[in-house]
Amino acid sequence: MDDIQNRTDIELLVNNFYERVHNEPNLAQVFAIPAEQWNMHITRVVNFWENWLFQTGSYNGGMMLVHLQANEKNRLTTERFEQWLSLWFLSIDSLFIGVKADFIKSKALEIGQIMNAKFNC
Ligand code: HEM
Repeated sequence: MDDIQNRTDIELLVNNFYERVHNEPNLAQVFAIPAEQWNMHITRVVNFWENWLFQTGSYNGGMMLVHLQANEKNRLTTERFEQWLSLWFLSIDSLFIGVKADFIKSKALEIGQIMNAKFNC
């Protein structure tokens, strides 16, 4: 097993993660996005992580607003944050090992904790 090397690896990871999300009914409900918007969502999420990992400038921000809107439709509860993070960790650990893999686990935990505190405290 290797560390994350490039955008193709991130695409593999994000697709693996959403496969798990779709099998978790409590989370899948939140991600009921119209099919024509799904590819755009994946691209934005891949851009987000590529930007953190390789400083590509490929993500132009606004993630807090997106989650604020998501939270209005379906509450982003602490339980959902825990499920989200545990699936993200599982996906990473099933595919990659190394400094970059560790970095996006801790970054997701950090951001997840900030969002959870905003929505649930
Ligand atoms: C309870 C946990 C979470 C839920 C249920 C959730 C749900 C969502 C939803 C519904 C969207 C909008 C999808 C769309 O319409 O395109 C979204 C976007 C996104 N999420 Fe989350 N999210 C969670 C946690 C996180 C965390 C912890 C991160 C990263 C650390 C993250 C990263 C992103 C990114 C990068 C986007 C795309 C934002 C954009 O389009 O600019 N999410 N999320």
